[in-house]
Amino acid sequence: MLAACLFIAAGSAAAAVPAYEWQLPPGFPRPQVPHDNPMSAAKVELGRRLFHETRLSSTGRYACVSCHRPELAFTDGRAQALGATGEAVKHGAMSLVNVAYNAAFTWSDSRVRSLAAQMRQPLFNEHPVEMGLTGTGQAAALELSGDAVYQEMFAAAFPGDAAPLSMDHIIKAIAAFERTLISGRSPFDRYVFDDDAAALSDSAKRGMALFYSARAGCAQCHSGLNFSGPVIDEGHVAAAASFANTGLYDSDGRGSYPADDRGMMDITGRAADMGKFRVPTLRNVALTAPYMHDGSVATFGRRDRSLRAWRAHDYAARLANSTLVTVAGGACRFGRLSRKPHRSGIPR
Ligand code: HEC
Ligand code: HEC
Repeated sequence: MLAACLFIAAGSAAAAVPAYEWQLPPGFPRPQVPHDNPMSAAKVELGRRLFHETRLSSTGRYACVSCHRPELAFTDGRAQALGATGEAVKHGAMSLVNVAYNAAFTWSDSRVRSLAAQMRQPLFNEHPVEMGLTGTGQAAALELSGDAVYQEMFAAAFPGDAAPLSMDHIIKAIAAFERTLISGRSPFDRYVFDDDAAALSDSAKRGMALFYSARAGCAQCHSGLNFSGPVIDEGHVAAAASFANTGLYDSDGRGSYPADDRGMMDITGRAADMGKFRVPTLRNVALTAPYMHDGSVATFGRRDRSLRAWRAHDYAARLANSTLVTVAGGACRFGRLSRKPHRSGIPR
């Protein structure tokens, strides 16, 4: 059997690997794929398995999927994520939908520009532990190499490689899988890309107008395909991700955040970056509570009447796929911000 496989592999080596078939919803461009990690069906399958693989954690009980659950749009429902050893991570797990289009990754570190670079954090972080693989994680890689299923899958995903099972390949396969987590076909998408006027209710259409209006100003930050600001794709290889201080905290009337988490400023050291966090996607927002980088906003409830733009949040909820409930209301902070110039420099 093995010999036959080798023979077939050798025989087809000259033939080009068939192009990967993206199953993209209407209106979605082809994602940008790094040259050193081309997509293939075999690699995506391997990545899917590894995304669920608990042997990639120090305790043998944790996987990417522990914090990124598909039924919650790949978040975990917690304000702050809990790592393999039970230690709290200071931020909430982010949704992974449409990360293929991200210009940067994580809540506040604009330097993390690739899925591969991002993945080193959950895999190897020690303070706090997320998955807790020590060193280069070779031990886990070696353990997987004893598994016949993996042997076959790695060989199929990295054909022609003398040592297909490595930490580098584990990361590449998971990244390939992550690029396939495409979320589209929401009522919004059908309204915009299919020209289906009935896809949105009248109230959602009013919310949409408000969302894109200068008054509510949501789309000044939550713009683009992902409602997260500039994205990259096959044809747009460079873009700067958006970061902003929303006024979620304001300990001194000048927009200061708690000392233990000042967002981008903790990374850059620049005072101008105080409290800046990346503009998150609003896709599937009805599934991704609690909200904000630290999960400190539990819901967007109607209770908060101070935000006149609550209908915009109603609209935001409807961006989610059709099965989702309506969430109305808004974060009062956005309402407050509208009364004075925004610190991010975006005119209000
Ligand atoms: C302990 C829970 C936990 C585990 C396990 C975990 N993550 Fe995460 N993930 C998070 C948190 C928390 C963030 C936000 C990190 C930050 O900004 O501080 C995040 C962010 C991300 C992002 C960035 C998304 C974006 O839009 O920027 C990606 C991609 C990601 N995780 C993928 C993975 C992969 C792949 C694995 C498995 C190798 C994994 N995560 C394991 C909690 C987890
Ligand atoms: C100045 C830029 C900016 C504007 C304007 C803005 N947002 Fe945001 N929004 C952000 C940032 C940044 C975050 C994340 C903040 C954090 O984590 O502390 C966020 C978070 C959110 C979240 C939570 C998402 C999640 O998964 O945690 C929702 C929902 C949201 N915004 C909706 C809106 C709506 C609706 C409007 C218009 C009324 C709006 N935003 C206006 C920048 C903006």
